[in-house]
Amino acid sequence: MAQVKNPLFARYFDRYGARNEDRGNRELRRELLAGLSGRVMEVGPGSGLNFPHYPASVSEVVAVEPEPYLRSRAQEAAMSAPVPVRVADGTAAQLPAANGEFDAVVISGLLCSVTDAPAALSEFSRVLRQAGQLRFYEHVRSRDPLFALLQRFANLFWPRLMGGCHVQRQTLAAISEVFTIEFCRGFRFPPSAVLSPVAPRVIGIARKAVAPGT
Ligand SMILES: C[S@@+](CC[C@H](N)C(=O)[O-])C[C@H]1O[C@@H](n2cnc3c(N)ncnc32)[C@H](O)[C@@H]1O
Repeated sequence: MAQVKNPLFARYFDRYGARNEDRGNRELRRELLAGLSGRVMEVGPGSGLNFPHYPASVSEVVAVEPEPYLRSRAQEAAMSAPVPVRVADGTAAQLPAANGEFDAVVISGLLCSVTDAPAALSEFSRVLRQAGQLRFYEHVRSRDPLFALLQRFANLFWPRLMGGCHVQRQTLAAISEVFTIEFCRGFRFPPSAVLSPVAPRVIGIARKAVAPGT
């Protein structure tokens, strides 16, 4: 299995990743997860910042985290989650799950970091049941050409500093190649971070198509 090891970034993320929670990220995570039910797979949970916000209608979360340090932090966070959370090793390219096992897949801040986003999206579709949901909260390439130019410049060094995070991906277009986007809204976060290359974001729901004749 391919490995993801970013020991420095993992410690940085664990220490400072939560600082945006008090600036509105907590509410965005609640929006991401609102109304989910049944079995959920979360891919790349990091230290488990989504875990406290899963609604009681979720029967089980399987959280797949490849980075060893973050996986151990996620295991700790799972113990106080409001719903059962099992943390597993694995990558977005090869999820430890059978076809059609899950009602929903959840990702936040993931598609910027995977090496092959289209392959990851196909893998999410594989583990989802028909009409299952992909819930996403991701930063994206800006639609403003000037800001997109700034992101292009930042992308020269950002991935090396931030655990492989790319800041100019057209993530929404990639999602819509595999799923039907049902709802999506774009915004900047945090609103005060005017020049941050990860400020342009989207949050939404995409659905796996139902195969004809079923
Ligand atoms: C920026 S962090 C976001 C963490 C968390 N989702 C959140 O919202 O706080 C990106 C996460 O994706 C994980 N990741 C990176 N590449 C991955 C891959 N190929 N498969 C699964 N997870 C991956 C990282 O280890 C990290 O936990």
